Amino acid sequence: MWTIQSLLFIFCISLRCLTSAVGMIHVTGYVGREVNISCSYDQSYVSHEKFLCKNDCGNSDILITTSQASKTKYSIYDDTSARIFTTTIFDLQYTDAGKYWCGVTKTGTDIYTEVKLKLVQDSCCDTVTKVQSYEGHSESVSCRYESQYQNSLKYICRGNRPSTCLQQALITSDTKQNARFRLDDDKVSGTFTVTINSLTRNDSGSYLCGVHRNSDLDVFSPFELEVEEWCCVKSTKINGTAGHPLTLQCPYPPQHWDNRKFLCKGDHRNNCSDMVTSQSRFTLQDDAASSSFIVRITKLEAADGGTYWCGSDSQWRVGNYTKIELSVCLHCTSNVSLGTTAETQRTQIPGKAVTDTVYVLL
Ligand SMILES: *[C@@H]1O[C@H](CO)[C@@H](O)[C@H](O)[C@H]1NC(C)=O
Ligand SMILES: *[C@@H]1O[C@H](CO)[C@@H](O)[C@H](O)[C@H]1NC(C)=O
Ligand SMILES: *[C@@H]1O[C@H](CO)[C@@H](O)[C@H](O)[C@H]1NC(C)=O
Ligand SMILES: *[C@@H]1O[C@H](CO)[C@@H](O)[C@H](O)[C@H]1NC(C)=O
Ligand SMILES: *[C@@H]1O[C@H](CO)[C@@H](O)[C@H](O)[C@H]1NC(C)=O
Ligand SMILES: *[C@@H]1O[C@H](CO)[C@@H](O)[C@H](O)[C@H]1NC(C)=O
Repeated sequence: MWTIQSLLFIFCISLRCLTSAVGMIHVTGYVGREVNISCSYDQSYVSHEKFLCKNDCGNSDILITTSQASKTKYSIYDDTSARIFTTTIFDLQYTDAGKYWCGVTKTGTDIYTEVKLKLVQDSCCDTVTKVQSYEGHSESVSCRYESQYQNSLKYICRGNRPSTCLQQALITSDTKQNARFRLDDDKVSGTFTVTINSLTRNDSGSYLCGVHRNSDLDVFSPFELEVEEWCCVKSTKINGTAGHPLTLQCPYPPQHWDNRKFLCKGDHRNNCSDMVTSQSRFTLQDDAASSSFIVRITKLEAADGGTYWCGSDSQWRVGNYTKIELSVCLHCTSNVSLGTTAETQRTQIPGKAVTDTVYVLL
C-alpha cells in the first residue's frame, strides 16, 4: 500500500488514478450504530482485492480487505455484479469520525477514493411540539418538510431514535393507512399529516416525523403526544333497591348554570338517551345555588340498572361529567360503593321519606 504523500503525488501525476477516483464520498453515521460505506469501481477491477483504510493509508491503517474474514468492528462485501464494495463499520464512536480511503489493490498503483465520515448523536431534537388529546379521540399531527422532499418517503415512528425510525415506522406515505394510523401527504403545502384513531393512554409518548433521503441521513421533527383519560370528573357505582325511590345529585360547573341539564342512559355517552324527557318516573330539579341538579326516580325498576351520565354540556366536552353505574336488585342493601375517584355520600334530604336515599355525587 502507499503512503498519503505518494498517493497525492500519484493523484497529481497519474491521470488514470485521478479519473478512477469518483471524488470524495461523504458519509454520516449515528453514534452507537453502524454505517455503510459504498464505493464503486471499474469493470476491470472485478477480481481485484478491495480494502478500507484510515488516515494516511499506511500498512497499519488498513482496517479490512476483501481477502480477510469479517472483524467485530468492520465487515466488507464486494458486489461484483454492481461493481460496488461496501464496508460496514459497527458500534460507531466519535473517535471513528474522520478521513478514510476506499481502495482497490492493483499492481503498481492502488486506486483510492477519499471518504469523510461524520458522526451525529442518535437522538432528536431540541424543540418538541406537544400535542394533547383524549382517550377514544382521534388526533392529527402535521409535520412540515422542505419542498425539495416532495417526492420523498414520509413516515412516523415512536421514540426518539433516528437510526431505527424508518425500520420501526408505524405508517409510511407508501402504505397511507395501517390499522389506527393514517398518513396524508400534502405536497403543495409541504406538510404531511398523521392521524391516529381510537387513542389509548398507551399512545402517549415521543414520536418522530421522518423524511427519507437516499444520499444522506433522514430529516426528523419530533412531537410528544399526551393522551388523557376522558370521561368524567368522576365515576361512581350505586346499588339501588327495586320498588324504592332513588335520588341522584349531580354537580356541574357554575358557568353551566344556564345550560340544559340532563341524565342520560347508555353505555356510550355519544348515543345515550335522555331519561328525564323519555320517562315520567324521572324528574329533574336544578339548583343553581349549589351548582347541582337532582334527579329523582320515583320507583326503581330492575330495568333501570345500567350506565348513566349526568351532564350540563350537550357538546360532551371533556370533564365535568359524572358517570354512574347503577345496579338494581330486589332485596339488596342500597349501600354506596366508594369508587376511587368518587366521594359519594349517603345523605337524607329533610322532609323526604326515610327510604329516599340521595346520592350526592360530589
Ligand atoms: C448496511 O447495509 C446492510 C446490507 O445491505 C443493511 O442491512 C443495513 O441496514 C445497512 N445499514 C445502514 C445503517 O444503512
Ligand atoms: C399498554 O401497554 C402496556 C405495557 O406496554 C401493556 O401491558 C398493555 O396491554 C397496553 N394496553 C393496551 C390497551 O394496549
Ligand atoms: C369543569 O369544571 C371546572 C370546575 O367547576 C371548570 O373550571 C371547568 O371549566 C369545567 N370544564 C368544562 C369543560 O366545562
Ligand atoms: C353507541 O356508540 C358506540 C360507540 O360509537 C357504538 O359502539 C355502539 O354500537 C352505539 N350503540 C348504539 C345502540 O347505537
Ligand atoms: C351497608 O352499610 C352499613 C353501614 O355502613 C354496614 O353496616 C353494612 O354492613 C353494609 N351492608 C353491605 C351489604 O355492605
Ligand atoms: C352492590 O351490588 C353488587 C352486586 O350485587 C355487590 O357485589 C356489591 O357488594 C354491592 N355493593 C354494596 C356497597 O353493597
